[in-house]
Amino acid sequence: MAGQKTFYLETFGCQMNVHDSEKVIGTLEQQGYARVETEEAADLILYNTCSIRDKAEQKVFHRLNDYKALYKKGKRFGVLGCVAQQEGERIFERAPYVSLVSGSASYRKLPEMLVQIENGATRVTGLDDRQTEETFETEFTARSNPHRGYITIIEGCDKFCAYCVVPYTRGKERSRRSESVLAEARRMAETGFTEIQLLGQNVNSYKDPEGKRSFAELLTAVGEVPGIRRVRFTTSHPRDFTRDIVEAIDGVPALCDHVHLPVQSGSSKVLRLMGREYTREQYLERIGWIKSAKRAISITTDVIAGFPGETAEDFEETLTLLNEVQYDGVFAFKYSPRPNTPSLSMPDSVADEEKSRRLQILMEHQREIQRANYEKHVGQVLETMVEGVNPARGQVVGRTSQNKTLNFTTTQLIAPAPGVYVPVRVTKTFPNSLVGEAVQ
Ligand code: 5AD
Ligand code: SF4
Repeated sequence: MAGQKTFYLETFGCQMNVHDSEKVIGTLEQQGYARVETEEAADLILYNTCSIRDKAEQKVFHRLNDYKALYKKGKRFGVLGCVAQQEGERIFERAPYVSLVSGSASYRKLPEMLVQIENGATRVTGLDDRQTEETFETEFTARSNPHRGYITIIEGCDKFCAYCVVPYTRGKERSRRSESVLAEARRMAETGFTEIQLLGQNVNSYKDPEGKRSFAELLTAVGEVPGIRRVRFTTSHPRDFTRDIVEAIDGVPALCDHVHLPVQSGSSKVLRLMGREYTREQYLERIGWIKSAKRAISITTDVIAGFPGETAEDFEETLTLLNEVQYDGVFAFKYSPRPNTPSLSMPDSVADEEKSRRLQILMEHQREIQRANYEKHVGQVLETMVEGVNPARGQVVGRTSQNKTLNFTTTQLIAPAPGVYVPVRVTKTFPNSLVGEAVQ
């Protein structure tokens, strides 16, 4: 259509960012913009950025550099998300062709900011810091998957772990009304969604502003929405993880049998330096609750290798913790010093090569644990949600309730469509995926 305003949006970072982008896309479409697939085809080029580690942060500057020549052709650039909030107006100094810098706590003002850019403003900012109490709610979310969708239940973070940028980039913790969350879940179910993933930097500190439901009660209520077959939630903080969450999973079949509980380190000393507010023993107590559930609940975690002050003995304690918990997945990261964070000024005697070495050891150690864990699924029949097909392998790609990838074959002529649930018998396993055959 001639004269239609267009935008390109690329997203970096976590699921919160992916979902924020869905809301931003919906908002832009509502303002008359059409989304295009390349920078060259767009009037407005947006990057939704991540600053959790230095590598993630550098990506946006590389991208801006690659495409800056397009500014002369009249295209405008906007930096959104965590790097935007963290760097603020400094982005205009480093990349003068950028016209918009906005953190996630200011997205509710996007319509006004867009109008300013259209009117020729060159330095538009949305940099609400930790003062704002408001959440970004919109009915125009452009969800990319018609079967499985995110719902934000809490924004921001008040934890201030020593290594983490999030409290500075996403603002103060603010929960959404449980009634509003449920209304969105019901609307999604009515339009065909069967899986919902509740999102927040720390979902366990969810506090209904109307005081109607605890987090576990909200989980239960979403799990009881007619048509919803799977409910997931991420991320949990061990300090705020309560036993009633496990009871909810036991009591409501739609709640998936998976908990992601980031531990970060197996050493109580390092946990104290990180400001995590729990010890190894307290963490293991929570793992005990999860393991004593009636259903087998899969547990995954995040670990940081080489935090300042981590000795060889501390690192060894992380390895023994992996043995004890028997995780089904570990996201391991090398410590990356971040702006504004307390750990930036902590004495760090661990050499960079040593941090890399520990990361490598961690990943190899976990691979063997996972190999053994995944093998236990052989012979089981697992309900699998179809995500697509892998034509090269002649396999259907699916996901189990425990969030494991299950690639399977079927004797039917036409492969089951995405979103369909199929019982699959597991015949073979790898450390990161399962293989099976559909049960007719
Ligand atoms: N360096 C390395 N890893 C980090 N994470 C958060 N901040 C840092 C950092 N400065 C990891 C944590 C968190 C995950 C999302 O990213 O493990 O749980
Ligand atoms: Fe990256 Fe953290 Fe921001 Fe998510 S919240 S985009 S992981 S910095």
